[in-house]
Amino acid sequence: MRILVTGKDGQVGSEFARLYRSASDVVLVGRGECDLSDEQSIRDVVRRVKPEVIINAAAYTAVDQAEREPELCFAINAAAPRVLAQEAARLDALLVHYSTDYVFDGEKAEPYLETDSINPVSVYGASKAAGEAAIAESTNRFLVLRTSWVYAAQGRNFLRTMLRLGGERSQLRVVDDQVGAPTSAPAIAAATIRLVERYASPGEHLAPGIYHMTAGGSTSWCGFARAIFSAGMLDAVPEVQPIASSEYPTAARRPANSVLSNDKFARTFGFRLPLWQQQLQEVMAGMQVRC
Ligand SMILES: NC(=O)c1ccc[n+]([C@@H]2O[C@H](COP(=O)([O-])OP(=O)(O)OC[C@H]3O[C@@H](n4cnc5c(N)ncnc54)[C@H](OP(=O)(O)O)[C@@H]3O)[C@@H](O)[C@H]2O)c1
Repeated sequence: MRILVTGKDGQVGSEFARLYRSASDVVLVGRGECDLSDEQSIRDVVRRVKPEVIINAAAYTAVDQAEREPELCFAINAAAPRVLAQEAARLDALLVHYSTDYVFDGEKAEPYLETDSINPVSVYGASKAAGEAAIAESTNRFLVLRTSWVYAAQGRNFLRTMLRLGGERSQLRVVDDQVGAPTSAPAIAAATIRLVERYASPGEHLAPGIYHMTAGGSTSWCGFARAIFSAGMLDAVPEVQPIASSEYPTAARRPANSVLSNDKFARTFGFRLPLWQQQLQEVMAGMQVRC
């Protein structure tokens, strides 16, 4: 099965690069080979590679910066997925795309279902919602996997920020009124590969649509920070003080409840991603080995 992966240098894309390192039929491209803000660049790459599956791991993910550059954010997160979906439809290929918990406003008390109305409260969330819609309008053969709070051993993410700040300060103030499921890039890539392998199996039918695909369980950013520090990677563990979002103003608003129900995913595909604590342990174990 010929697979094209975009965003090879991102958190999730790097995991595909690692997991597919010995696969001869997988083409991974980064910004240099395929600039998602350039429609022709996308069409050229897809037409050259002629994939049977496209995995779009590239995105504009700078949530606060997006408030200042909405055009670029929408070009990458909404216009580019439309072009990918159009090209996938031409080839009869499957498009696998990632979306986000930030398509919701976070006002719901329970975990969000795929059938719940979206209502993004940030430019980034709105751009990802527009990307979902553009894909559904352009092809029948797609999987949109909404995930949340993505982190990895490399890249720019909360885990690495906490380890850096925790090494510099004895006390940290961390938001405690936003709840979600920290989901590791390795878990996202591994689960996606299971879906793609299933798609490639003879006789298997992959029901297209939107699926929530996050780690099991949930916590706040403060809870996530405490779990990071309790792994014992730092010589001195900083004190973590819980604060309200209002005490940590950001350019973009973020939903208070980011928890997504994974029940549809589990019913359809027969498995769930591991609990967030287990994913964190696995990522941090890998970091300790590398240190
Ligand atoms: N990060 C999160 O917390 C989070 C949460 C929910 C959902 N998601 C979704 O999960 C997916 C993967 O996210 P991630 O955390 O792996 O993202 P990431 O680490 O920020 O990586 C995104 C990649 O996209 C590339 N990219 C950005 N603009 C591009 C352009 N114009 N042309 C080509 N490539 C471009 C970046 O390239 P450079 O390396 O050159 O900058 C980067 O390699 C995305 O769809 C994201 O929206 C992420």
